[in-house]
Amino acid sequence: MPRLKTAKSLNAGRQPTRRRARAKHDDPRNDNDARQLVLSLLVNRKRIAIIPGDGIGQEVIPEAVKVMVASGAAVETDSFDWGATRYLGDGTTVPRDGFAMLAREFDAILVGAFGDPRVPSNVHAREILLGMRFKMDLYANVRPVRLLDAALCPLKGVEPQEVDFVVIRENTEGVYGDTGGVFKQATDDEVAIQEDINTRKGVERIIRYAFEFCERHTKLDGSPRRRVLMSDKSNAMTHAGGLWQRVFKEVSREYPQIRAEHMYVDALCLQMVRDPRPFDVIVTNNLFGDIITDLAAALQGGLGMAASGNIHPGKTSMFEPVHGSAPTIAGMNTANPMGAILTAAMMLHHLGLSAEAAKIEPAVLEAVRQKKTTPDIGGTLGTREVGEWVAGKVAKG
Ligand code: NAD
Ligand code: IPM
Ligand code: MN
Repeated sequence: MPRLKTAKSLNAGRQPTRRRARAKHDDPRNDNDARQLVLSLLVNRKRIAIIPGDGIGQEVIPEAVKVMVASGAAVETDSFDWGATRYLGDGTTVPRDGFAMLAREFDAILVGAFGDPRVPSNVHAREILLGMRFKMDLYANVRPVRLLDAALCPLKGVEPQEVDFVVIRENTEGVYGDTGGVFKQATDDEVAIQEDINTRKGVERIIRYAFEFCERHTKLDGSPRRRVLMSDKSNAMTHAGGLWQRVFKEVSREYPQIRAEHMYVDALCLQMVRDPRPFDVIVTNNLFGDIITDLAAALQGGLGMAASGNIHPGKTSMFEPVHGSAPTIAGMNTANPMGAILTAAMMLHHLGLSAEAAKIEPAVLEAVRQKKTTPDIGGTLGTREVGEWVAGKVAKG
């Protein structure tokens, strides 16, 4: 349950929206916000922090919010301007106390994307996005891969219900810890080291999460999930791979009803393109998970269709489409908002608002079937028009 906010935290990095643009000293806003929060508590509304971020994040997230509201979900949103423009303006990536404030005051976070050509170092994206994943310990990056309509898949002869698997990506370790350094930079003897961190605790909890996920979730057609496949590169990366192999064997013994399988990640890529139908639950490390989920996105219609959740059970978790800020199409009203919309549905499921979430997926499917979509998946509509169409469908029920 969210707790009452302090006036100070209410101001941390909020968007300068009309409601928030008034002067602080005589601003009744904090009283209003406190009143809103008390009301939320009374009607048990879920509090969602919205961080659109950069590029097309600014375009797809408002559509996801529109659809979420149309579903009738008892949510209350609050927007934050974290991203490249804020960083370029005042040097802030994450405001002081930012992550603690999100954890304390919100039930979930809906994020767009980070990355902007004006910030070539990408420092803000690392600090905000990877910061959120690491510092809020959102260790399970759950990336469902579902083909909604055969027309979206580049593979021949694949039926929609045949592609329904999920990638569980370790989200707090691996090469993403950015441990290492450069020695003798800009000389002929330069050495660059990038460490791959794999802890017993980190590996064990993500593998266990994958087995638990398999046990508790069915496929879209209602059939049970039965297999967990661990993917690594233990034939070349023996130290890290050895740990993953040992832990996988140990944990799998606790789930005798689930089939435990293994594939090297290179072979897995081949299989994903040759025939993705046998996949069910895949668990892998941070980097391999990043790479294979772009590949897997192609199976479901491209990056514009792929959803994800960054989850720590029992803690405030963060939900974001798999795609990035796509600077080359930003501001053109052509970005596909479906990944963001399906991400919002995933977030509602996570918050226990399953009836509302269940209204969204069929509406997206119907939009795909009727080609009420953006051009990347064969339609002629703009981002906003797709959002409005799906929201209208959801509202009609
Ligand atoms: P990207 O996902 O932004 O784009 C890859 C390709 O897919 C581009 O051709 C783009 O136009 C297309 N695309 C992506 N999303 C789309 C959508 N919703 N609708 C239609 N087409 C879409 O990846 P990139 O180009 O490698 O990266 C761009 C920036 O985004 C970089 O700064 C990168 O670091 C960042 N990035 C951020 C995240 C994130 O915040 N979660 C994820 C990936 C990349
Ligand atoms: C993703 C992105 C991020 C990642 C980048 C932006 C750091 O590609 O969420 O898939 O590699 O995790
Ligand atoms: Mn990625």
